[in-house]
Parts: sequence; C-alpha cells; structure tokens
Amino acid sequence: MRDLFQQAPSFMCILSGPDHIFELVNDAYLQLVGNRQLLGLSVRKALPEVEGEGFFELLDGVFRSGKPYIGRNLQVLLQREGDAEPDERFINLIYQPIFDIGGNVTGIFVDGFDVTHQKRAEDQLQSLNHTLEQRVEQRTHELRSALLQLEKETVERETAQIALRQAQEMEALGNLTGGVAHDFNNLLQVVSGNLQLLSKDIDGNARAEQRLENALAGVARGAKLASQLLAFGRRQALEPKVVNCRKLIQNMDDMLRRALGEEIELETVVSGGLWNTLIDPSQLENAILNLAINARDAMDGRGRLTIETANAVLDDDYARMHEDVRPGQYVLVAVTDTGSGIPSDIIDHVLEPFFSTKSEGKGTGLGLSMVYGFLKQSGGHLKIYSEVGHGTTMKLYMPRTMQIEDGLANSNAIPVKGGT
Ligand SMILES: Nc1ncnc2c1ncn2[C@@H]1O[C@H](COP(=O)(O)OP(=O)(O)OP(=O)(O)O)[C@@H](O)[C@H]1O
Ligand SMILES: [Mg+2]
Repeated sequence: MRDLFQQAPSFMCILSGPDHIFELVNDAYLQLVGNRQLLGLSVRKALPEVEGEGFFELLDGVFRSGKPYIGRNLQVLLQREGDAEPDERFINLIYQPIFDIGGNVTGIFVDGFDVTHQKRAEDQLQSLNHTLEQRVEQRTHELRSALLQLEKETVERETAQIALRQAQEMEALGNLTGGVAHDFNNLLQVVSGNLQLLSKDIDGNARAEQRLENALAGVARGAKLASQLLAFGRRQALEPKVVNCRKLIQNMDDMLRRALGEEIELETVVSGGLWNTLIDPSQLENAILNLAINARDAMDGRGRLTIETANAVLDDDYARMHEDVRPGQYVLVAVTDTGSGIPSDIIDHVLEPFFSTKSEGKGTGLGLSMVYGFLKQSGGHLKIYSEVGHGTTMKLYMPRTMQIEDGLANSNAIPVKGGT
C-alpha cells in the first residue's frame, strides 16, 4: 500500500490535526511543491508562500465541518526552487476528511492532479479562437472598406469623365463661337465704316438718312451680340486690375437694388481679410449684375438675394472632379437666390450660348455664357448649385493675387452690358 501510495501519479498527502501536520507525502506531491522538508511540519510552516491564497482556510473548513472539498483549476503560486520567482500552477484537488471511530475529524487526505499543461493549452486555444475571430472580423472590415473605396473611386472617375466631356464640349463651342464672333465683328467694322462714309454722300436726303440710321442701329446691335459671343469664347478684350471684391460689391449696392426691385431683399456678406484678385472690374460687375437679374427672374420678383464673398481654397480632390480647375487659392463671390431652382435636365445646358427658358424678347440666353467665358478667360471657375423649389447658388472663383489693390474707378461711370 505504501509503495502504491508513493508512486501514484496523482499528488497525495495525509494531514493530521487542526494544524494540518504532514504525516505522509508521495513523490508527486514533492514534485508539485518542490523538494523540501514537509513531514512533521504544519502546512503553514512547510508552505509559507501559499499563505493568503485560500488553501489553508479551505483545510480549516474541511477539518471543522467534516465535509469534503473538491476544487478545479485552482491557481497556486509555489516557491519550487530556492529564491526563484514563485511558480504558477493550476491544480484539481480533493480534501477528504478522515474520521476516527467516534466520528471526529482527525485529519485530511489530500489528492489531486497538476493540470497546468491542460489549463495552458485550453487558454491558448481560447485566445487563438479569439484572435482568429478578431482577424476574421478585421479582414471583413478591411475588405468592406476596400470595396467602398473602389465604389467611391468608380463614382469619382465617372464624375470626372463627365466633367471632362462637358469641359471639352464647352471648350469646342467656345472656340467656334469666339472665332465666328471675331470674324463677324470685323465684317461689322467694314459695314459700319462704309455706312459712315456714305452718310456724307446722302446729306439732305431725309429718306436715305433714315435708312442709314436703321442700318447703323443694326450694326450696333450686331456689335453688342459679337461682344457677348466674344466674352463666351474667352476672346474679349479684358483690362484686369487688382481688385478687392468687398469694395466692388459695396459700390454696386445702389445699382443692384434698382435692378432687383423693392420686393427682393438684398443681403451682402463679406468676410474679413478678403484676398485680392486680378480681374477686369467692370466685367466682374457685369457678371454679378447678370446673375442678380437671373436671380430676380427666378424669384418672380419676390425673395432674397445673398451675395457673399470669402477666401476659398480649392484642393486637389475638388480639382480632380472639375476638369478645368487648378487647385489653389481663390476669392469666392457667391450669389444665392431663393428662386425656382434649375431642373437637373437643363442644368448642364445653362452655360451654352442662346440657351434660355425665358420667352422671346425676355432672354437671349447669353448672360451665363458671358459670365462663364469671362471667368475662364480670367483663370477662374464658375460652379452652380441648385435645388428645384429652393434656389440657386452661383459661385464665382477668381484666382488670388498677392499684389496690392489698384485704385478703383467710379463704378457708376462704367457702362454695364447685360444679357438682354
Ligand atoms: N438663378 C437662376 N435660377 C433659376 N434658373 C436660372 C438661374 N440663372 C439662370 N437660370 C436658367 O438658365 C438659363 C440661362 O441663363 P442666361 O442668363 O444664360 O440666359 P437668360 O437669362 O435666359 O437670358 P439673358 O441672360 O441673355 O438675358 C435661364 O433661361 C434660366 O432657365
Ligand atoms: Mg440671364
């Protein structure tokens, strides 16, 4: 029996008395706690490092109550070798009370297994499972965002392609229009020169003078048309100056109020420290007036027009989505109305010359074309935001200049060319 006990694979010992004195200890037990002197010592003396881990109290309890205790996966820190760090083990064990003939507890039989290896393997498996789950989740997440990115890029590419096509169409239309307008203008010069010479020859002939006057009026209308088309074709003669839009818009206040009528509220919002821009001021006024008149028409004479100026930076992303835009610093003038808005099926056409939804005689469809051509010729950019039923914002971007402002001419003295 002693041999069997000694060689049993589970660790065993017999403790006697309320202080749990080691009576018998097998090899497996010694292996667990590290070879040390145990027999004849109390557990508290023999295994001082275990104090505070709850085992002694459990033994006390079993001794007192006479009820066995079964524990699983109990963590124990043991000083198995001299000064080494305490070693963490996990054990399953039973404390079995030993009774005398009278039924009193005289000692405790301890039997158990060191399950550290199983416990570690289980933990490892669990954490592997956990990391596996995490990795699956992470991969799924990565794949999903890659997919989203791809979708976004596709949409961006398509948008950029549409923008490119539109820009190319407008470019071609501008070249054609500008070329025709230029030649047309030269022809008008010839006609008007000869008409003026002719006027000397027909002095005193009232009927002929009347006809000549009609012809000259026609030439003047033609010249105006030519100049509007030249503006769209980016071939008008510009006189760029260093302009601060804040003053320019303040100076336009009277003119705008007259153009808009009493039922339309005019609000101007200027941000401080506005940058300067190099632009033809009279053409810029012309453009703003054209936009204001469009807004008035869209609001049916009633509503609110807001003109806002600010510094703006157009970044690479924006430039990628707009074919004709260079990234950089711009001065922004935004003209916003609370009008009808522009339906999506016509918004791509509003910049084309002669595109108008207004009745014959009310609009020639040249206003926005001129604004667009003028801005492009000045290195700027026109962007339209519109929502049907809510209103429209026309954003004019003009490149920033570092130069200081030129003296502004009295704006009221400058003739303004309108669309109609
Ligand atoms: N603020 C706006 N709100 C709603 N629609 C607008 C606005 N501005 C322009 N549009 C639409 O775009 C079209 C073209 O505008 P554009 O200024 O080029 O020509 P027009 O105003 O019709 O004629 P013109 O300016 O030569 O007198 C307009 O007929 C109108 O349908
Ligand atoms: Mg117009």
